[in-house]
Amino acid sequence: MFSRWQLAKKYIHYYCTAENGKGHGVHSPFVFDFIIHVLNDQQPYPAYQRVETLRQQLKGNETLLTVEDFGAGSALGNTRQRSIASIARNAAKSKKLAQLLYRIVQYYKPATVLELGTSLGVSAAYLALANADGQVVTGEGSSAVAHQARANFEQLGISNIQLVSGNFDETLPVMLQQLPTLGLAFLDGNHRLEPTVRYFEQLLPHLTDQSIVILDDIHWSAEMEQAWEQVKEHPAVTMTIDLFFVGLVLFRKDFKVKQHFTIRF
Ligand SMILES: C[S@@+](CC[C@H](N)C(=O)[O-])C[C@H]1O[C@@H](n2cnc3c(N)ncnc32)[C@H](O)[C@@H]1O
Repeated sequence: MFSRWQLAKKYIHYYCTAENGKGHGVHSPFVFDFIIHVLNDQQPYPAYQRVETLRQQLKGNETLLTVEDFGAGSALGNTRQRSIASIARNAAKSKKLAQLLYRIVQYYKPATVLELGTSLGVSAAYLALANADGQVVTGEGSSAVAHQARANFEQLGISNIQLVSGNFDETLPVMLQQLPTLGLAFLDGNHRLEPTVRYFEQLLPHLTDQSIVILDDIHWSAEMEQAWEQVKEHPAVTMTIDLFFVGLVLFRKDFKVKQHFTIRF
């Protein structure tokens, strides 16, 4: 992964060169609509409070879990015993990004959502609460963490999530069998080049014209930047939106020319 200093430099470059987040001068109707109705939607949805209350509880929970280390993505290395508090502080998506995921699902209403990387279930809870009629399937490799995530979903009274425990290398084909078409996929685990591109390619037969794939941490490391570039270049991709911490990938055929946007968020 990049050092804090490298990341800060990259973020400053992004911030200075990205299109402003107001939609001025954006010629794509899809992107303009996304900026106005999703990115800049400031409504305080009641689900936000429910999940953030859970997050605060988890941040105060010093119970130790025995955690298997899967792939890249842990800033703390191969630690086997980790407190729930530490996982909640280091692995869960920030409030700002998790709530953006909520608004994306709430606005586009994908019937099926796949998440790779449940951790304690913070982002999965947002994805599920955003559309009670949608089905969320989320995968987590570490069994103790998966167990805690299930308890968290129960505490929030969420019933439209199925958590599949195990290494994505084995579980992704199984999850995809249950999801013949995929409305939205959020890849937030195993942040390395080869698995990220491989998982993306495994999703492709399940995507439709309307599907959205979201890649997390696209500027987190040189490998993730390469993965992002490879995804952008894939012939099936018709548009990408770089929000620095996440990247959105679209496949709509009515976007006649492939376009890559970088938008301040
Ligand atoms: C960054 S965390 C996910 C955070 C979560 N999406 C959230 O925002 O609340 C990534 C998770 O993916 C899991 N993971 C990483 N690589 C994996 C793999 N190859 N198979 C299964 N799980 C994996 C890790 O155990 C970790 O819990």
